[in-house]
Amino acid sequence: MTYSNIDTYNSSIVINWYDNLGDLTNIEKHIFERYQPLIKNAKLLDIGIGGGRTTNYLHTRCLYYIGVDYSQGFVNLTKNKFPTLDIRCLDARNLSVFSDNSFDFINFSFNGIDYVNLKDREIIFSEIYRLLKPNGIFFFSTHNMSHDTFNKRAWQNPNTSFFINLKTFLKLIPFEFTHQLQKRKELYTSDFAIINDSAHNYKLLTFYTTPSFLYKQLMKFKFSNIQFFLKSGSHSREDKLDDWIFCTCEKSIF
Ligand SMILES: C[S@@+](CC[C@H](N)C(=O)[O-])C[C@H]1O[C@@H](n2cnc3c(N)ncnc32)[C@H](O)[C@@H]1O
Repeated sequence: MTYSNIDTYNSSIVINWYDNLGDLTNIEKHIFERYQPLIKNAKLLDIGIGGGRTTNYLHTRCLYYIGVDYSQGFVNLTKNKFPTLDIRCLDARNLSVFSDNSFDFINFSFNGIDYVNLKDREIIFSEIYRLLKPNGIFFFSTHNMSHDTFNKRAWQNPNTSFFINLKTFLKLIPFEFTHQLQKRKELYTSDFAIINDSAHNYKLLTFYTTPSFLYKQLMKFKFSNIQFFLKSGSHSREDKLDDWIFCTCEKSIF
């Protein structure tokens, strides 16, 4: 059996996993604090909210919060946690319910943008650009294809110990058949790849890209002031990034 990404994000195992996810990461705290003067008066759109990890932090710190996710399961979960908030079941590829120049800040956390193909990713970039007000900020992360862990088996991670790799191997081996089936849908190019990594026991196809291609894509959609960050929160050059690229960019009107 093969899985579509939306089916995986609607499955109860995955929903329970995100339900119990912890606090914000260092880089998220760093960026939200840095933009707090903007956020405090912002109409903020949080895309791909999952179990409401970012909702919990952001909704008290902005003027008006809207959270969206294309998984009805996640929307139900987060709506239950925050019954008074504006939480909607919407796909980032079609945000036509919102008019142009509506939001001061848009967040798409935890690589949520990586679960569509190239064409749809470009639709999402163009939708986000359309929805941002002039000088509005988009913050997101994406998988880094130029990192040395790209496309290595999860248990061959050079940055973790032998015992952790062994534990990972034993956990994943029962799902090897699923992986072999899902692998048939992979796609590799020099700029990006769509691969079946081990996340959620091989039940997702995930977009990975190079920092330089990401930069070019964002420029193509007219974003400016594009900045890349490490997980620690430090600013970084394109060639020194972690396995996840954290990015802020802006809708500047020249
Ligand atoms: C990796 S999870 C992250 C969840 C949450 N943002 C967090 O940080 O805990 C990605 C989320 O993005 C959502 N998602 C993926 N593609 C989407 C799309 N095209 N439109 C809306 N939501 C999407 C998934 O349903 C899932 O909730």
